[in-house]
Amino acid sequence: MDKGQGVLEFIDEWGHEELIFVRDRDAGLRAVIAIHDTTLGPAVGGTRMRMYSSLEDAAFDALRLSRAMTYKAAMAEMAWGGAKAVIVGDPLRDKTPELISAYADVLNRIGRFHTGADMGIDGADVAALGRRTKHISQVPAGSSVDAADLTAIGVVEAMRATAAAIGAAPGGLRVAIQGLGEVGWRLACRLVTEGVHLVVADTDGAKVSRAITELGARAVSADAILGVEADVFSPNACGGILNDESIPRLHCRAIVGAANEQLAEPRHGDVLHDRGIIYAPDYVVNAGGLLSLLYETGETDEPGIIARVMRIGRTVATLLERSESDRLPPHRLADRMVEEKLAAARKILTAPGA
Ligand code: NAI
Repeated sequence: MDKGQGVLEFIDEWGHEELIFVRDRDAGLRAVIAIHDTTLGPAVGGTRMRMYSSLEDAAFDALRLSRAMTYKAAMAEMAWGGAKAVIVGDPLRDKTPELISAYADVLNRIGRFHTGADMGIDGADVAALGRRTKHISQVPAGSSVDAADLTAIGVVEAMRATAAAIGAAPGGLRVAIQGLGEVGWRLACRLVTEGVHLVVADTDGAKVSRAITELGARAVSADAILGVEADVFSPNACGGILNDESIPRLHCRAIVGAANEQLAEPRHGDVLHDRGIIYAPDYVVNAGGLLSLLYETGETDEPGIIARVMRIGRTVATLLERSESDRLPPHRLADRMVEEKLAAARKILTAPGA
């Protein structure tokens, strides 16, 4: 994305269907909702609340993230399209019951956007919104898994498939985990039961101490995790982590993690490929969180959703096999597969008599 482009040029280039700016002065609500592509089904995507330096920056974030949702849903074989909402404001200071109610009314007015929690929006907010609109969901109370669990299950399966591609047995695998938050911690717990050797890092020292004492993990500093010698580097903290500065420092054979938007730019996936490091595309690996929607909306039950998330392993295995035979980096191939799928679906939808 070239920020020199205006919002409208960007919509044209990426093919968004709709961009909605919302302002409710009395409730203090300023939000942007981007609906990217509903060829495969209704629009779905999380709502995040955070500070932005301008409304235009918020719009760019919504445009970028909504497109990623289309790709994620398509690769996860979901009959849903991509969207994303961003509420501009500090969740700690600006989130009021009035703002939440006003946002629920916006969701009702739009009527074709289904959402869930993202950064800055928590379970209590979703519950409050859910009392006013049916266009939001979360995993039912009392479930043994939540969206973060499902994401971690998907990452484990993706890692298993990637380990096979590099000829490593899952037991004895050395994995360097960056970030021990909601997903990273659950991932670490699951991997350690499979005999994986863990090296971990987090900027929060308490989480690191817990991993050392409870999981027997080795810890390094947040900066050093990039250079750790490991079979797999697993980013589970922030986006843009694979960039010009970090890639030369990597000492791993593959990258499999939950963080969204790991590549600073698509060309960094090419650099990894040239270095012989397998990059399992983030939106394929971390689709467990989005798949949880099928459970939240009653499309499947708990065992059903776990089985569905575990299929991520097979998708990654197929992608890596094809990547090798087509001599195309996995992130390019995944994008191409989605674009072909969307083009084929559009053809059917626009065929005479459709
Ligand atoms: P979180 O906020 O709970 O955890 C992030 C962790 O990373 C925190 O413990 C934080 O202290 C740590 N961290 C931040 N910067 C760091 C750095 N430079 N080095 C090391 N550690 C650092 O977030 P969560 O929910 O675990 O998500 C992690 C990633 O996975 C995000 O990119 C998120 O977008 C993505 N994701 C999350 C899903 C979910 O269901 N929670 C679903 C799909 C993707």
